[in-house]
Amino acid sequence: MKVSLMSNTNIRPLQSPTPPTSQAPPISEIYKRLKRLRLLEPSVGVLGFLTMTLLIICCFFYSDYKAIARGFKFSDQSKLFLWLQKNGSGEVRMANFLGEEGSRCDMFEGDWVWDEMNYPLYQSRDCRFLDDGFRCNENGRPDSFYTKWRWQPKNCNLPRFNAKLMLEKLRDKRLVFVGDSIGRNQWESLLCMLSSAVPNANSIYEVNGNPITKHKGFLVYRFKEFNCTVEYYRAPFLVLQSRPPAGSLEKVKTTLKLDQMDWTSVKWREADILIFNTGHWWNYEKTTRGGCYFQEGLEVKLEMSIEQAYRRALETIFHWICNDVDETKTQIFLRTFAPVHFRGGDWKNGGSCHLETLPELGSSLLPSETWIQFEIFNDVLSSSLPSSQLGAINLQVLNVTAMSSRRKDGHPSIYYLGPKVGPSSLHRQDCSHWCLPGVPDTWNELLYAMLLRHEYETDNHLLEKSK
Ligand SMILES: *[C@@H]1O[C@H](CO)[C@@H](O)[C@H](O)[C@H]1NC(C)=O
Ligand SMILES: *[C@@H]1O[C@H](CO)[C@@H](O)[C@H](O)[C@H]1NC(C)=O
Ligand SMILES: *[C@@H]1O[C@H](CO)[C@@H](O)[C@H](O)[C@H]1NC(C)=O
Repeated sequence: MKVSLMSNTNIRPLQSPTPPTSQAPPISEIYKRLKRLRLLEPSVGVLGFLTMTLLIICCFFYSDYKAIARGFKFSDQSKLFLWLQKNGSGEVRMANFLGEEGSRCDMFEGDWVWDEMNYPLYQSRDCRFLDDGFRCNENGRPDSFYTKWRWQPKNCNLPRFNAKLMLEKLRDKRLVFVGDSIGRNQWESLLCMLSSAVPNANSIYEVNGNPITKHKGFLVYRFKEFNCTVEYYRAPFLVLQSRPPAGSLEKVKTTLKLDQMDWTSVKWREADILIFNTGHWWNYEKTTRGGCYFQEGLEVKLEMSIEQAYRRALETIFHWICNDVDETKTQIFLRTFAPVHFRGGDWKNGGSCHLETLPELGSSLLPSETWIQFEIFNDVLSSSLPSSQLGAINLQVLNVTAMSSRRKDGHPSIYYLGPKVGPSSLHRQDCSHWCLPGVPDTWNELLYAMLLRHEYETDNHLLEKSK
């Protein structure tokens, strides 16, 4: 019996999904085992005691998997349970995303699977790079299920995130996020993920000594040992927002120059890795309502729709990528729109997402009006850059929209005000940013996989050439 238990432990899958509510069974499981052991081996004394100790340890690791394999019953749940049971074994061998077969795998098609063994990748209280707004747990959010889901592509396995290895890959390089506060959300997540592998906290610092706040134009964190920087530039539209031309109407306070990149672009044009995002500011509230109109050339286009302006801006960005970036040096990622999950209103009139504690586990997608940004993006991308050209300009799409749309449980909701203030009023919820640890960690794991994949392909390509 000893032997069989031990060997079972060895074949335990690396990452076995278990349901969130499996606290009780492991203990009864252990108890049964101990009882059986006593019946079988009543007189082994010290050896028996040692074996039992070992078994208890094994059982703790093993029981997660066992509970599922035996068809452990939930009292109420059906959908979650069926889903987990179907995918409970986790033993199916799949192509490694980094291997040869991995090239055919769409890493963005898949499911969220429960994985409390390996997640979260860090704790917010251990990471000094986080805004209060993302520290949901410390701000009073009572549940923590949202930190324990792993993204599992349908047809391949992703490499496990390795902070040390990523830092080695970033040695002597600049990795830059440019975009809105959801980009800052992802940037802070990456700082936490990477810093978990650096024991000397003082070796990571902001080069200008600035603290992390919402309001800075840019922040540059240096990892001294690795001579690399991980930077964030706030440019919510990516194109230039500045004063209107002389003689404009009084209601025109600022204009978005749809044919020019943000002024900070000179600072990040030569980065080694650039990760863009935009979308959340392309709405009435953030533009026309505050007197921000659109401009092309010298002309202010008072009648231009936001959708049309967004299209023009994206075209400018793609044009800039094709013409102003050194594709032999700079790898570009475009992160697609991160969906919001306000129910029964929007951010300013009582829309809510609190009390959401589980992802949407079915694979059907929720249609959402916020997806218009995503559709325009796909549309402009495919018309400006035919896929044959994508490889030539070193651009990849971090296509997170669909996967993130299933994570209505991932937002700060009322827990964004900092530990001293406590929860906000129910009428002012944040259902657009993401708690950390949480969903943006997954975006960064995908980014990590894409960087490794790119290196693998480049190396192989070079090998072929030199043959
Ligand atoms: C379960 O996992 C298998 C691969 O192991 C996958 O093909 C299948 O679609 C998954 N089922 C569900 C319901 O997610
Ligand atoms: C650090 O990286 C930069 C490139 O970003 C490089 O020019 C410089 O030589 C590196 N410094 C050291 C000490 O390796
Ligand atoms: C992103 O994924 C969605 C759905 O999975 C797909 O419809 C879309 O074409 C993808 N876009 C890009 C640019 O890969």
